[in-house]
Amino acid sequence: MPWNSCQRCHKLLAIVAILSALVIFALPQPALAQVPEAASRSGALPHSPLTDPAIEKRVDALLKQMTLEEKVGQLAQYSSGAPTGPSAGNADYPSMIERGEVGSLFNLDSARAANQYQHIAVEKSRLHIPLLFGLDVIHGFRTTFPVPLALASTWDPAIVEKAARIAAQESSAAGVRWVFSPMVDIARDPRWGRIVEGAGEDPFLGSVMARAYVRGYQGKSLSDKESVAACIKHFVGYGAAEGGRDYNTAEISEHTLREIYLPPFYAGIREGSASLMSSFNTLNGLPATANPFTLTQILRNEWGFPGLVVSDWTSVGELVPHGIARDKAVAAQKAVTAGIDMDMVSDSYHQHLADLVKSGKVSQTRLDEAVRDVLRVKFALGLFEDPFTDESHEIQGALPKERVEVARLAAERSFVLLKNSPAGSRPILPLTSEVRTIALIGPLADDARNMLGPWAGRGRPEDVVTLKTALEQKVGANKIRFAKGGELQTASDAEIQKAVETAQKADVILLALGEEADTQSGEAASRAYLNLPGRQEELLEKVAATGKPVVLLLFSGRPLTLPWAFEHVPAVVAAWFPGIQAGPALVRVLFGDEPPSGKLVVSWPRTIGQIPIYYNALNTGRPPENTDLTHPPQNSVEKYLSRYIDEQNSPQFPFGFGLSYSSLEYSQTHVDSAKLHASDKDIQATASASVRNEGNRAVDEIVQLYVRLTGTSMEEPVRKLAGFKRISLAPGESRTVSFPLGAEAFSLWDMQNKLRVEPSHVQLWISPDSSRGLPAELEIVE
Ligand code: BGC
Repeated sequence: MPWNSCQRCHKLLAIVAILSALVIFALPQPALAQVPEAASRSGALPHSPLTDPAIEKRVDALLKQMTLEEKVGQLAQYSSGAPTGPSAGNADYPSMIERGEVGSLFNLDSARAANQYQHIAVEKSRLHIPLLFGLDVIHGFRTTFPVPLALASTWDPAIVEKAARIAAQESSAAGVRWVFSPMVDIARDPRWGRIVEGAGEDPFLGSVMARAYVRGYQGKSLSDKESVAACIKHFVGYGAAEGGRDYNTAEISEHTLREIYLPPFYAGIREGSASLMSSFNTLNGLPATANPFTLTQILRNEWGFPGLVVSDWTSVGELVPHGIARDKAVAAQKAVTAGIDMDMVSDSYHQHLADLVKSGKVSQTRLDEAVRDVLRVKFALGLFEDPFTDESHEIQGALPKERVEVARLAAERSFVLLKNSPAGSRPILPLTSEVRTIALIGPLADDARNMLGPWAGRGRPEDVVTLKTALEQKVGANKIRFAKGGELQTASDAEIQKAVETAQKADVILLALGEEADTQSGEAASRAYLNLPGRQEELLEKVAATGKPVVLLLFSGRPLTLPWAFEHVPAVVAAWFPGIQAGPALVRVLFGDEPPSGKLVVSWPRTIGQIPIYYNALNTGRPPENTDLTHPPQNSVEKYLSRYIDEQNSPQFPFGFGLSYSSLEYSQTHVDSAKLHASDKDIQATASASVRNEGNRAVDEIVQLYVRLTGTSMEEPVRKLAGFKRISLAPGESRTVSFPLGAEAFSLWDMQNKLRVEPSHVQLWISPDSSRGLPAELEIVE
């Protein structure tokens, strides 16, 4: 007899359950504070623009008038324009729109095109429901800002919000009221090309950035014609693709999902993000686009998300190759039942959803819920009142000066100075205007297109000021000797030779090397080697061999493993893909008109063999004290430790790292309480430290606060970022930086996957990066 149909077995099970519950409750329970609502991941959403009763009434009224086919139509989205994925198909959209079979279009190229389609929707379709136009506006629409990984490296949410607002203004002027951004996927693997689209490896920083984007895009009100609906993506686990290979499988325990991968989504939702996109990957055996645990249980039931959930490009249809759907009908059924409202491009809903509802395989209630999610956003955006875009507002000519300024400032703050060794009596940077000749070398020194980076919206190379142009403006063309030294992926002996000869004639060499933005960074651009492509490393070594001081400027969408360069080249700057103001921003930082202030948001590996590498790792039971290779494991005590025999454990540069042109002194961290109570609802303490600028140049410093909890029920990371502040210090100036800490900083996800403050030992560091400083300590008791 099968176990589940055995009456006696059921009784037995019930008795066992009651007994164990009695035993559990009889045991002394630790007093565990329930952390406040904001941290406990449930409850009403304070900022949602979608929870307006007036909107709900209008949604109800409209829904009542809709036929089954018109409902399904609202859930279909198509790409019309340059495709951003495979097999887009090319349907007759005007007729489909007229029949009410399309809810949203994206990838259109102008306000005019949007208006043409919109006229059909609101004038010719039976219910006159407006279309919602979307686009991947990832780091700007036309004003192209640094790539998101670089924007996060500013640690400056205010500038990110400004950039997102400008992107919203330009997008909305082109008829786009929905941007597929921000990408909030945590990424611990730089082989994954899409690491460039996110805020790096840390959930705290990722959450701060997610909120900044949502605020910028959605403004004070979604119905403002300059606001656009944000779309946090990709839900969830996409950044954990195995081996860093795009679209690959992810395995993430619920604990790690909640601690690392979910927080930025939750933060974006709390900030009011109107929509969310599912991801391509399979998560713990189930494709994320058909995953009721994440899409319904967490997103809707726990977090109360009232917004629109769209699939990723054809990810509904991809349930067939994933092997969990025999055909697109089953794919549609699984996706919609799991919680996907809108089907991007795969056409599965359009073809099958009406039949699925008629046959009862998908409930009428679920269908209505999905349609409501779409209509709610359209109402909130004011599309029913004003569906068209004033074509005269679309940005055509030169970019407004204020926008260019924001792009420049964002780029300046995003550069991370990785190395700056003395060349002679002083560090090589900043350069002085007394320098007589500068050799400007490298395939990216005068390259406009690549400065825009991948996913550059409607960015135009002609808006870019290259490094060469900006440098000529700064010091005069007569001081510059330029040699391209080949292309990114190829170079001839003659080109390399010419570069070496150019270098020999100069006082200082600026070498602009890196990746090709579109083919080597971004979506579908996973790399198995993280070196400089083509013959660029050979070019670097030959130029460095001239003995002239070299400043290496790395343009890339990820950290690159370049141990030789970090050992031999005196100055290295991670410049990422800086956007339209690449040249002016770099020149200002290189000459010290603006201090370098970016810090790494990803751990920079020494070698691919260390990946995945991230600072907020667990300690293991055998943590090595020292993995310096001048001290290789020799005896059995040192041998059986969690280390490599042929490489250090530490990264080339740790998370949070970035140099300035000054030297800073951090005091010991101080905390104002020695003991806290886990059961205290208002648990709080303040950590502080003073930071002093010891050098003779002004600095902008990103002061970071890290926490470690031990003695806890679950193993906690060796450090977790719990706060940061960007401060300016004049030469000799000292400032006390304080961080108030509440339940969120002291909480952890326990064995039942509940967020709790537990009795624990707490260490707190206020430090310039994730690897330095001496901790202050306190106890949390019951
Ligand atoms: C990407 C999404 C993007 C979508 C639409 C997909 O391939 O994964 O991030 O929003 O295409 O272009």
